[in-house]
Amino acid sequence: MRTLIKNGTVVNADASTRADVLVDGEKIATIGIDLDVAADRTIDAAGKWVVPGGIDVHTHMELPFGGTFAKDTFETGTRAAAFGGTTTIIDFAVQPRGGSLREGLDAWHEKADGNACIDYGFHMIVSDVRDDVLTEMDALVDEGITTFKLFTAYPGVFLSDDGAIFRAMQQTAKNGGMILMHAENGMAIDVVANQNAEAGNTDPYYHGVSRSPVFEADATSRVIRLAEVAEVPVYIVHLSSRNALNEVRRARDEGQPAFAETCPQYLFLSLDDMKNGFEGAKFVCSPPLRPADHQEDLWDGLVRDDLQVVSTDHCPFDFHGQKELGRGDFRKIPNGLPGVEDRVDLLHHGGPAAGRMSPNRWVEIVSTAPARMFGLTQKGAIAPGLDADILVYDPNRKRTISARTHHMDVDYSCYEGMEITGGSDVVLSRGRIVVDGEEWLGEKGGGRFIKRARSREYLK
Ligand code: URP
Ligand code: ZN
Ligand code: ZN
Repeated sequence: MRTLIKNGTVVNADASTRADVLVDGEKIATIGIDLDVAADRTIDAAGKWVVPGGIDVHTHMELPFGGTFAKDTFETGTRAAAFGGTTTIIDFAVQPRGGSLREGLDAWHEKADGNACIDYGFHMIVSDVRDDVLTEMDALVDEGITTFKLFTAYPGVFLSDDGAIFRAMQQTAKNGGMILMHAENGMAIDVVANQNAEAGNTDPYYHGVSRSPVFEADATSRVIRLAEVAEVPVYIVHLSSRNALNEVRRARDEGQPAFAETCPQYLFLSLDDMKNGFEGAKFVCSPPLRPADHQEDLWDGLVRDDLQVVSTDHCPFDFHGQKELGRGDFRKIPNGLPGVEDRVDLLHHGGPAAGRMSPNRWVEIVSTAPARMFGLTQKGAIAPGLDADILVYDPNRKRTISARTHHMDVDYSCYEGMEITGGSDVVLSRGRIVVDGEEWLGEKGGGRFIKRARSREYLK
C-alpha cells in the first residue's frame, strides 16, 4: 500500500518545509516538492501540518495500584492515544515485591500482546533491589527494556532506600541503560499526610498540601547526586514544581546527564482544582498539582530545554467506584489521572498556538526527543526510512475536551469544557490509517512491541 500525503507542511524538530510525503508499506519512502508518483491513495494536506506521531513515554495501562487497577486496558488506552495523535507509548511493567523482573515483564507482555492498537515499549519498575535482580537488569537491557524506574515515594509499596537506588544506578551505569526516578520524599510526606488525617483534614485537597514541593526538590537533588556518583544518566519523571526544576537545571548547568519530563496536568491544572470537596479526588496524583504560579516556570523549562519531554503519566481511575475508595480519607484515593488522549493537542494549544514556542519545539517535545532519549530509533521524525507514524495536523481546529466525547475508558476528564486549538485530522501508524476524523480504522493487536536501543547512545 502506497499513500501520498500532498500539499502539506512537514514540521520536524529541526525545520518546517512545504513538501509531499510518500509512504510505502510501513515506512516513509520519499519526501519532495510536488511528487509525481503513483499511489494507492492520496491525502490532501493543504493548509495542514505533517508531523511525526506523538510518543508518550509514561503510561500505566491496567496498573494495579491503590487497591484497584488503572482502568484503561492496552486496547482502550492505545486506541484513545491514537485518537489524540500519539502513535507510540512506553508503559511501566512492574516487578512484584519479592518476585523477579522477568515475572513482571512477562505479565506486561501478556497484557499488551494482541491488544495494543499502536506500537509500545516497556520500562521496568524495580521495587525490590536484590543481587539476582541486578543481574536480571542486564538481560532486560539486551531485550530492549533499557530504562528502570525507582521510587523515593510510596513507602511500603514502591519506595527504595538510597542504598538500593544507588546499587541499581551502578548496575545501570555498567549495562548502558538509564534510571528514571519518581522523586518525592515519601517518608516525610507520610508524616505530614498522617498528621493532616488525624487532625480531621481528610478532603482530597490535603493530598496536595501534604506533599510539599520542597519534598520534591529534596528528593530530586538527592537522586541526581546519587546518579552523579554512580555516573549514570538520570531522568526525573513527572516533575511538577519550580523547586524540583531548579535542581535539574543546576545539574544540567554543571554538565551532568540529568533529564526531566513534566506532564500536561502540571502545565494546565493547579492545587485550586483540588479544593472543591470530594470532587478534588479527580485531580489526586503524585506529585500533586501545585499552586498556579509554578506553571509558567515549567513552560519556561520546556522552552529552555531544562525539561526535554512532556509525557502524561496516564493512570486513569473512574471517579465513581475507584476514586471514591478514598471518601473520608484522602490517603486511600488511588493516585493518578487520565490524559493519554489529550497530550499532543494540549501541548499544541499551550505551546505554538499560545506563542510560547515554535511548532518545531512542540514536535521535539512530544515526539523527537522521546524517540531519541528512549532509543526508539525508527520513530520521532518525518524522514525517509523511518516508520510512517504520521499526523496530518490541523493547527486551527477547535474542539472542546469532554468525557462525553473522549475515548479513554474513564468517567471524567480533568479538562472538562476546555476549548483548545489544534487536532489530528488523520493518524497513520506504520503506514496504516488508524484514525480518519472521528472514525476509528485501527485494530486491536495492530501495535507491535518495540525493542528499544540503549538510551545513552541517543542522548545529546
Ligand atoms: O499519581 C500517579 N503519578 N500515579 C501513577 C504512579 C506513578 O507514580 O507514576
Ligand atoms: Zn511516579
Ligand atoms: Zn507514573
